[in-house]
Amino acid sequence: MTTGYSVSQYGNMIACKPRMDAYAEALRRAVTPGCTVIDIGAGTGMFALLACKFGAERVIAIEPADAVQLLRISARDNGFADRITVLQDLSTAFTEANVADVIVADLRGCLPLFENHIPIMIDARERMLKPGGILMPHRDTIRAALCCHPDYTELCEEPWLRNDYGVNLSAGHRFAVNRFLRTILKPSDLRSAAHDLLVIDYGTVTSPDFTGSIVLEACEAGTVNGFLLWLDAEIAPGLRYSNAPDEPPLVYETCYFPLECALDLAVGDRIELTMTARLGDGDYLWTWASNLIRAGTNTVERAFRQNSFVESALAARRLRALPKDDDVAAST
Ligand SMILES: C[S@@+](CC[C@H](N)C(=O)[O-])C[C@H]1O[C@@H](n2cnc3c(N)ncnc32)[C@H](O)[C@@H]1O
Repeated sequence: MTTGYSVSQYGNMIACKPRMDAYAEALRRAVTPGCTVIDIGAGTGMFALLACKFGAERVIAIEPADAVQLLRISARDNGFADRITVLQDLSTAFTEANVADVIVADLRGCLPLFENHIPIMIDARERMLKPGGILMPHRDTIRAALCCHPDYTELCEEPWLRNDYGVNLSAGHRFAVNRFLRTILKPSDLRSAAHDLLVIDYGTVTSPDFTGSIVLEACEAGTVNGFLLWLDAEIAPGLRYSNAPDEPPLVYETCYFPLECALDLAVGDRIELTMTARLGDGDYLWTWASNLIRAGTNTVERAFRQNSFVESALAARRLRALPKDDDVAAST
C-alpha cells in the first residue's frame, strides 16, 4: 500500500451494515441508465461496483491507495470492466469538468471534520458535478451531549495529578486534557440530552472551518467529565445512519472531548459549549470552551478553554529550540 488502509480495514468498512445499506440504497435511487458516477476515495471499489450494478454507463473510481487495484479484478469478475475507469491518484488529479451525474464518497473519520474531507467534497462539487447532479453524502450533523467517561481517571488524571511515586508531574496534565479520544460509551454514560452542534450541508458548504455553540443541561445529578460527539449521516434525503451511543456500533467510534476537571452537576445545571474546528495542514485543530452555570443562576461559576494543539506547541518549541519561554503554557 502507498497510502490509505489495509484491505482488511476496507473489508470492515464494507461490513459496516448501517453505513453500507444507506450508501447502497442511495446509489440505487440516484443511478439512472446511462449516467456517469465518480467514486472518490474508492478504496477497494465497492461503491463503483454498486453503481455499475444499478446501471451506470461510466464509473470513475479515484483512490490513491494500492488497494484500488483490487477493483480492476472485481470489475472483471462482475462483468463491469468496460464501464469502470480506475484512477490511482488524488481526486485533484482528475481534470474532466462537470462530467458526473452522481458523486459518491466517504472520506470521513469518526467525525466528518477529518483530514481534507471537506475541501475534497467542495472541489468535487464545484469541478466534477454536473449542474443538478447528486452528491453523496447529502448532509452530516455532529451531535453532542454531556457525558461521564468511566475511564477519566486513567485517561486524564493519572499519573499527572496522582502517582504512586511522590513525584509532581502536573506539568503533563494539560496534555492529557487538551486532546480528544476515539471511544465507545454507553447511553447510560450520557448526562444530558443530545443537541446538534454542527451541520454540514454538502450542497452548499464553502469552508472547512466550523464553529458551533450549544447549551447542555444536566438531566441527572452526578459527575460530568466531558463531551461526547458523534455523527448523524444523511447519505441522501431520508437515508441515515449514526454512531450515536444508542445505535448499533459502526466501523466509526465516537469522539470524547474531556473537561479539564470533572464536575459534580445537579439536575438543571448547564454547560455552555462552544467548539471550533479549523483545518490546518491536513489536520483539524479543535478548541472547546465550556462555561458552567448552576441551575437557577445566570453567572458563570467555572470556565475552561481547551484545545487540541498543545502537543503541536511542544513540537514547535523543540523545533525552535526555545530556551526559556513557556510557550506551551501560553498556548493553553
Ligand atoms: C474511509 S475510506 C472509504 C473507502 C470506500 N469508499 C468505502 O466507503 O468503503 C476513504 C478513502 O479515501 C481515500 N482518499 C483520501 N483522500 C483522497 C483524495 N483526495 N482523493 C481520492 N481518494 C482519497 C483514502 O485513501 C481512503 O482509501
